[in-house]
Amino acid sequence: MLKADLHIHTSEDPHDPIAYSARELIDYAKTLGFEVISITLHNKLLISKSLSGYAKKNGILLIPGVELNIEGADVLAYNIKPEDARKIKKISDLKEIKKRKNILIAAPHPYYVYRSLGKKLVQNIKLFDAIEYCHFYLKWMNAPNKKAARTAHLHSKPLIGNSDMHHLWRMNTTYTLIDSKKDINSVINAIKKGNIKVVSTHLGFWKYARALCGTFGSIFKRKVLKQRK
Ligand SMILES: [Fe+2]
Repeated sequence: MLKADLHIHTSEDPHDPIAYSARELIDYAKTLGFEVISITLHNKLLISKSLSGYAKKNGILLIPGVELNIEGADVLAYNIKPEDARKIKKISDLKEIKKRKNILIAAPHPYYVYRSLGKKLVQNIKLFDAIEYCHFYLKWMNAPNKKAARTAHLHSKPLIGNSDMHHLWRMNTTYTLIDSKKDINSVINAIKKGNIKVVSTHLGFWKYARALCGTFGSIFKRKVLKQRK
C-alpha cells in the first residue's frame, strides 16, 4: 500500500504565504514514509521535470494537481494540463475536462465553512471521482468530515484522506493508503476503483488551535497582499 497525501500547498502557492518549498516538502514527506504526494497550489499547476525527478530520487511519486477555485468553491483536479485548468470557469466545465484520460476530480473539505462546495457537491456529484476527509478536526468536532463520509457512502464515491497542509507539522495525521503500482495512471485508477483506505486521527486541541490561528493568519495575509496589488 502506498502512503499518499494528495492535497498539499508549498511556498510556490500564488495565494497563501507558506514557509516551506516543494523540495523541502519532498524531503520531509520522505522522512514520514510517504510514497505519493500531490502539490495542489491555488489555481496554479506546478509542473516541473526537475521537481518530479527530485521526488523520484527520494522514492516519491509526484502527481500533478491543482486546487481550483470555481464558483467560489475549491475543487481538486489531478493529472490535467495547464491549458485545461485555464478553461475551467464553472463547475459544469469539469464535464468536458473529464473526457480526457486518467483525470481525477475530487471535492476537498466539502462541508467546511470556507471555500467549500457544500450543496453543490451533491448537485454535481457525477463530476466528482472522490471526496476528501480533511485532517483539520477534533475528536468531538468533526461534523464536516462525517457528512463528507456519508455523502461518499451514499453516492458510492471513494473517500481520500488529505492534509490540505500549509505547515509541515500538519502532515501525517490524515492520509490515504493506496493499493496500486507507483505510477500516475495506476494510482488514479486505484482511487477511482476505491482500492484505498483513509488513515486518520484528530489533531488534538493544541495542534488544532495552532492550525486555526495559522488559517486565520493566512486569510488575513491574503487580504493584505490583495489590497497592496
Ligand atoms: Fe487546499
